[in-house]
Amino acid sequence: MVILDGKKISQEIKKEIAETVKSIIAAGKPAPHLAAILAGNDGASETYVGHKEKDCHEVGFRSTVLRFPDSISQKELLSEIVRLNSDNEITGLIVQLPLPGHISEREVIEAINPDKDVDGFHPENVGRMVMGLPAFVSATPYGIIELMKRYSIETSGKNCVILGRSNIVGRPMANLLSQKAYPGDCTITVCHSKSKNIKGICAEADIIVAALGVPEFLSADMVKEGAVVIDVGITRVKADNKSGFRLVGDVKFDEVSAKASFITPVPGGVGPMTRVALLKNTLKSYELKGR
Ligand code: GUN
Repeated sequence: MVILDGKKISQEIKKEIAETVKSIIAAGKPAPHLAAILAGNDGASETYVGHKEKDCHEVGFRSTVLRFPDSISQKELLSEIVRLNSDNEITGLIVQLPLPGHISEREVIEAINPDKDVDGFHPENVGRMVMGLPAFVSATPYGIIELMKRYSIETSGKNCVILGRSNIVGRPMANLLSQKAYPGDCTITVCHSKSKNIKGICAEADIIVAALGVPEFLSADMVKEGAVVIDVGITRVKADNKSGFRLVGDVKFDEVSAKASFITPVPGGVGPMTRVALLKNTLKSYELKGR
């Protein structure tokens, strides 16, 4: 069994990005610049945005976080996006989700300039991705694809089961792995809350991507000997430690790892790959713009 070490691979990719940034700066050009909008004070969102700032700093990107209170109106938020869309100093623009309940996430996402949409959430990017055209792909599926590539995981003709159908993980993952590409060329089954016989479906899978957000959902009896198991789950469970919580995946790691050929740990698997994928998208946006 091989552990898919997202932490190690993400560090390698960060080094590659940092080298590119160095050469950009040596050529007298400004560094890529990621702007993140954070509305409200959701604890997990604060942490994620903090990670994004730290990651930018590590590779030499500029970063700006625009914080707004819970009470910001949709109109104010949209006008902020319009302003950042046309600010030439900003390479990539993300709005951290979830947003306060009175704001339409759909309208906010649709307001972002697709050329700066490094989260890959805008329908234009989703549509382009589905058609196999150049697009920003949302960070988690992009990170998983990159991880599979770096470990040369065989995907052609494999039965792949995706657990979960979210817009930002399950759906794009299913689409990417079905494309005529590497990694890709899989036969895909997407399971969700209404699916019947999930256990039997998973037991036939060569590759399982667990993205349900149900801690320790996938047990060894659901997994075929030699399957590749990718765990996207990161549920915070209360714990008696410094942070007050620990991260639990969707996979029962101890028992499933005994059967899997490759498996991602939690933490240190998909999480760091997701973080580095956002940096890759930001660099791509910069390169497309020609500065
Ligand atoms: N909330 C949870 N994941 C994400 C993400 O990848 N991007 C943004 N903007 N918000 C999120």
